[in-house]
Order: sequence, then structure tokens, then C-alpha cells
Amino acid sequence: MACSGPNSGSLEALAPLAPVPVLLFNEKTLMNVFFMREASPEPDADPGMDDDDDDEDDEEQEPTFCSCFWLRPGICPCCEPPISLSSRGAALEIILRDDAEMGALQSTRLMSSVTARAIIYNAYGEPAETIKCHSYKIDVDSLKPDDVVVETVACPINPSDINQIQGVYPSRPPISADSLPELKSPAAVCGNEGLFKIIATGSKVSNFKKGDWCIPANVNFGSWCTHKLGSDKEFIKVPQTISVNHAATISVNPSSAYQMLTYFEELKPGDWFIQNGANSQVGRAAIQIGKKLGLNSLNIVRNRDDIDELVADLTALGATKVITEDDNGSKEFGKTIKSWLNGKQIKLGMNCVGGSSVTGLARKLGPDATLLTYGGMSMKPVILPTSLFIFKNLTAKGFWITGNIKRIPNSRIDTIKAVLKMIEDGDLAEPKYDETKAKVSDLTDEKLLHIFTAGLANSKKGKQLVLFE
Ligand SMILES: NC(=O)c1ccc[n+]([C@@H]2O[C@H](COP(=O)([O-])OP(=O)(O)OC[C@H]3O[C@@H](n4cnc5c(N)ncnc54)[C@H](OP(=O)(O)O)[C@@H]3O)[C@@H](O)[C@H]2O)c1
Repeated sequence: MACSGPNSGSLEALAPLAPVPVLLFNEKTLMNVFFMREASPEPDADPGMDDDDDDEDDEEQEPTFCSCFWLRPGICPCCEPPISLSSRGAALEIILRDDAEMGALQSTRLMSSVTARAIIYNAYGEPAETIKCHSYKIDVDSLKPDDVVVETVACPINPSDINQIQGVYPSRPPISADSLPELKSPAAVCGNEGLFKIIATGSKVSNFKKGDWCIPANVNFGSWCTHKLGSDKEFIKVPQTISVNHAATISVNPSSAYQMLTYFEELKPGDWFIQNGANSQVGRAAIQIGKKLGLNSLNIVRNRDDIDELVADLTALGATKVITEDDNGSKEFGKTIKSWLNGKQIKLGMNCVGGSSVTGLARKLGPDATLLTYGGMSMKPVILPTSLFIFKNLTAKGFWITGNIKRIPNSRIDTIKAVLKMIEDGDLAEPKYDETKAKVSDLTDEKLLHIFTAGLANSKKGKQLVLFE
């Protein structure tokens, strides 16, 4: 009896006539309920039969249920033609996974618990020397009605994550004995954003189902982990219409760019904004969102050997003009910029660097313009020329997306929705990251710690994203 179902072919190897249920794995299928073979054949009706007769009986018994072992009563959905299922078998809920995960999952049998690992710190300090890995069990069988269990798909390493571990970021998760189960001493979990997949839901969870993607609803989430148990209110569902990299990083960088471009000045198509650190993730998002809004952008980057490549890269994203810090500091080059503006005034400036960079940026702003400072990558203060500040009537403000969550109700969800739409419409290119893959079935505490320690070191050279598979 032929069956083309998901497990046909591999069944004999994986599910021999076993006395206990056996887990089956298949990379195509997430979760299903299957029939398992009986532990032993039915007793022979006539012990006096000869060998040949025995063989005949075996042949008759063999096809009484299909090799897919579907539990759904009656008919196997995979078999062609459909096969009626007999009652011979025992029900078992099985997680189907990639073959490589088989070993890890076999030990958990019915997935009553998962081993979760998280990168934590017990005190503030230099991240590479401070972080540790903590592992603990999540009991998937005893969830509260509103609980969900998620596994991490991807999480970035952002500058603010680093500042939190250093203890210099104003919004930080508490270092607490209640942060995670089985802690030896009070800790906080690193990381704020990431993409997660629902793997189990409590009895009253109606807004999520297994397999759904979600992101943290709030900051200080503790996203540098393999799994997490939480209330369904702690997550926002995101559609699988966007890429993993986009979804894992939607809530901080593109959302900040969107708010800065839309919350402060009424910019109309054809208007100009200026920004430094234009090759940062925020800067790249601002270029693209600005283009979508019909805005012109003047983008300042630090000089480098491959500056032409970077200029081409940002121009391809939609940058109107890209200049270096040296250009911006040059009086002579000011004339070129004036000619580009063609009589228009720059209404908005976005600063993530500080020091002399913001001084040069502010000089390009028009009367009554707004200067937003959202980062201080140079670690230098914001320096504004006094006369410029007075006579141009500049408004200089700080921007903090985390602060806006409280100050502007619904800003987080509304912004994510707006950015999501732009991603779906193809207005935002795939964000560039140095990706590190973490194979969950192979992980040990040491391996996960190494991945994040290396990621922290590499984040000085480029944006880091850890992908779990
Ligand atoms: N306030 C908020 O709500 C908010 C939200 C999101 C992000 N941020 C902040 O925005 C900034 C950018 O974040 P991101 O994730 O987009 O960063 P990112 O992609 O890691 O890029 C870092 C940027 O900073 C520049 N940079 C690094 N060190 C510098 C230095 N010493 N002097 C001048 N420039 C330097 C880099 O330029 P090179 O390529 O030349 O090194 C690059 O343009 C960070 O300060 C972050 O904390 C703030």
C-alpha cells in the first residue's frame, strides 16, 4: 500500500516495532499527531500453523494502517488512494524536526520541557568580561493559561544592548533573582529586540498559534536567549511576509528613523534633511524612509579607503547626496552644498555622533530647523555654535524611542505597523548584518557564550545578528 506522506520511506528506519512511542522527524513538517505501531504483533490465532501460513498472515496484517500513521480518525490524508486507518496503534504527539535535532529531542520525548539558554549579567561591567550563559528548563506541559513559549529565531547586538550591560543606559532590566528560573545569583538577561517563534501556548491564548512569529512588545525583554516563557501580552505578532533580518530588527533602528522623520517637522516632498552616521542602520533606514516620503537627504559619513563604494551603496538606497565629515567641515565645499539645495533650507538634522560632527551638521541647517540628537557615537558632547543657535532660532532636542513608548501612547505599535508596511512594499532593503548561526541542538552554555562574546568584539567592525537554527 503506497503512501507519499511526509514520513514514507524513512519510517522503517525511524519507527521500528518499538515498545514505546518513537519520535519522528522531518524538516518539512512542524507538528503532527500520528499513530504508532503496536508494540508487538497480535497473538497468533493458530499456533499450529506452519511457516508458510505465518508468512501469509503477516502479509495480511501489514497493510491494516498506513505508513504515515495519521491519528485523525478514519482516513490518512497523505495516502493515494485514501486508506482507512485501523484502531491498531497508540496516539502520540510528535515534534517533527530537522534530522540533526533528533538526538536532542529524543531525550525530551514528548517535549515536556525544553532547555533554555540565556546570556545574562550579574553586575554591570565591560560586556565581554561580564556576560555569562545560564541554562534552565521550561516545562512546556504546565503553562499558565496566558503563557506562550517561544524559541528565538534571530537577535541583533545593538549599541544600546552594550550600554545596558555597561550600566550606562537609562532604561535597563532589573538585576533580579526573579529574572529567570534556577539562577544562582540575581541577574538580568541581555538584549532588547529579536524575532521569536511560538512553540507552545497556554489554554487561553487565542492571538497566537504554534509557528507564529512575534517580537517583544516592550523594551528590556532579554532577547539574547534560545527560548523564553512569557505571557502572550509580552509579544506582538509579525507576519512572515518579511525577512528574518527585517523582523528581528524592526523595532529599534528603522522605527527610530521613521519617528524622527515624521514626529518633529512637517516635511513635505522635496524638503531636505541632513544626518551624520549616515551609514549606520538608523541612517540607512532614514535614507530609505526619506526617499519613500519624497524627501532629499544630505548624508555625512566618516572618510575611509573604500569611500566610493560606501557612497555608491548609500546612493543605491536612495541617498540624495553623500559627503564625508571632511567635506562637511570645509568652507569651500559649503558652496557645493548650497548649489545642491538650490535655494531650499534644510529643516531637520539628525545627529548620532556629537562633537565636531554635530557642529558642522548644525551649520547646514536652515532657520527655525530642528536638530535631533539620538546617539553619541564619538562619546563627545553636542557642541552648537552659540550665534547659530540664537540667530537661526534652532530647536535642539533629544530623541529616544524608548522614552516615546511612555510619552506617546501606541507609538511603538503604530510605528512598527508603518515600517512593516514599507518593508512589505519593498521600500526598505534587507538590512546588512554580519550573521552568526547558532545551531540550537549543538549548543552548550560555553558555545552560546562564545557566540555572543565574539559578536560583541565584532560589533566594532560591523552590525551583528545571531541566527538560531
Ligand atoms: N535614541 C534612540 O532612540 C536610538 C535608537 C536607535 C539607535 N540609537 C543610536 O544610534 C546610533 C546608531 O545606532 P545603529 O544601531 O544604527 O549603529 P550601527 O549600525 O552600529 O552604526 C554605528 C555608526 O556609528 C558610527 N561611529 C562609530 N564610532 C564612531 C565614532 N567614534 N565617531 C563617529 N562615528 C562613529 C559608525 O561609523 P563608521 O562606519 O565610520 O565607523 C556608524 O555610522 C547609536 O548611538 C545608537 O545607540 C538611538
